[in-house]
Amino acid sequence: MTTFLLNDIIINTDEHPGITLLDFIRYREDLSGTKIGCREGDCGACTVLEGRMENGKLQYRSIVSCLTPLGNAQSKHIVTVEGINMDTCSPVQQAMVDHNGTQCGFCTPGFIMSLTGHTMAYEPSEETSAIDSVNGNICRCTGYKSIERAAISISKMLKEKNPKDPLNWLIRNHFLPSYFEDIPERLSKIKSHQKAETKGKQIIGGGTDLMVQKPDEIAESALNLYFDRSDLKEIRKKNNQIVIGSAATANDIMHSEIINDLIPNLKKHYKLISSDPIRNMGTLAGNIVNASPIADLSIFFLALGANLLLDKEGKERELPLKDFFLGYKQMDLKRGEYIKSIFFPIPVVPFGFNFEKVSKRTHLDIASVNAAAYIKTEQDTITECRIAVGGVSPVPLFLKESSDFLTGKKLHINTLKQAVNVLNTEIAPISDVRGSKEYKRLLARQLFFAHFLEIFPDRFSLQELIS
Ligand SMILES: Cc1cc2nc3c(=O)[nH]c(=O)nc-3n(C[C@H](O)[C@H](O)[C@H](O)COP(=O)(O)OP(=O)(O)OC[C@H]3O[C@@H](n4cnc5c(N)ncnc54)[C@H](O)[C@@H]3O)c2cc1C
Ligand code: FES
Ligand code: FES
Repeated sequence: MTTFLLNDIIINTDEHPGITLLDFIRYREDLSGTKIGCREGDCGACTVLEGRMENGKLQYRSIVSCLTPLGNAQSKHIVTVEGINMDTCSPVQQAMVDHNGTQCGFCTPGFIMSLTGHTMAYEPSEETSAIDSVNGNICRCTGYKSIERAAISISKMLKEKNPKDPLNWLIRNHFLPSYFEDIPERLSKIKSHQKAETKGKQIIGGGTDLMVQKPDEIAESALNLYFDRSDLKEIRKKNNQIVIGSAATANDIMHSEIINDLIPNLKKHYKLISSDPIRNMGTLAGNIVNASPIADLSIFFLALGANLLLDKEGKERELPLKDFFLGYKQMDLKRGEYIKSIFFPIPVVPFGFNFEKVSKRTHLDIASVNAAAYIKTEQDTITECRIAVGGVSPVPLFLKESSDFLTGKKLHINTLKQAVNVLNTEIAPISDVRGSKEYKRLLARQLFFAHFLEIFPDRFSLQELIS
């Protein structure tokens, strides 16, 4: 049984937890405002909001309902475009009208939900963050400039919003219907799922890989829903380690104070990963177990020297992330075992960290090649170095030879040029839709240099590196 609030009604359903939330909304509840575009998380036509209580606060996030297993709606407030409709247009809807942000209207409910989600955030609105909130939405006919103008005008309207209590302000200013006032109390009456057991069931996190790869199978399988397991969500410091629960999402990591304190450019790096709704859904363990050679989070955490804590029926073992990937989509993961957390040593300041990704477009695209580097120097000598690169081998690749080569060497242009020769022996790119093997080899070199340009801007110049 899955129980949740859909707009202002309570849902108790025996439907299979693996069917998509999108199909449930449209075909069981006849709410046709949420549109079906790609069914692969790419277009945003099916965007809805997911509200849940966190540390006493009701938080809303945009998600794509086409990849959300119905079971992940348990104990939440799911809001579709019908759930924000009032007698007159909300200021968000009106802004889209005023700025000619809609033509055929097919994409419009998705845009409206993403923008409404933006208004509900606890952080103050900026013009850039308002525009960023629609980075998971595609429009085929209006053109984005008018939608951007609508987003900017919405951001201006939010200047008076009380960031401590946004919902109240939004209700009073007719952004939201008044039933939102009672949501915290109504959610508190719904029990969350019992702790899931592991045996013999398909583990599913956010569903952003599985629901693309095998939606029909998931709609019939016995599922172990990990997404909302509070014991797998935490991001914390433990002794001299950072521990990240395996069900933490990319956005949980991106907005974590602990991780932001450690890695100053974290938000810049994570903006290169998928889109807001996908980052709200995709978990760290999902990215690792997907084992895609260009999995961004895997590359990021390989460079941080991460380890996995694996669990099988209470028996735990630790494994360096770099040893987890055995071959294309093959992992050191035993039957019945799952990832409990990912942990890495807190680097001692000063150190440099950088992440790079080259893809055909900025958002919602898979990398041709991605790369991350952690570099520590003392008196001009590299004392610690970890470099990882994706898209150039069957697995997310930790460059052991190149990292070892650099460790103990002087920070000098000749060292970097020699290291590229080592790097070239470690990678074996293949030609595919993301580029030829020659292009990927070139990218791996350029991204390697980019790390040093970013981390040591006063030491190296692009010209001398590529000459
Ligand atoms: C539109 C779109 C854009 C994307 N863009 C990017 C991108 O830019 N960069 C990128 O790296 N990825 C991207 N992805 C891929 C995906 O979002 C990520 O890999 C995500 O982190 C997967 O997490 P999930 O929780 O959704 O995985 P799920 O689909 O829920 O699960 C994936 C696999 O992990 C297993 N699993 C989940 N949790 C555990 C656990 N705790 N222990 C053991 N096994 C577990 C599942 O059984 C399954 O085999 C994109 C996907 C979509 C649909
Ligand atoms: S239908 Fe395209 S993202 Fe869901
Ligand atoms: S208005 Fe037609 S797809 Fe956006």
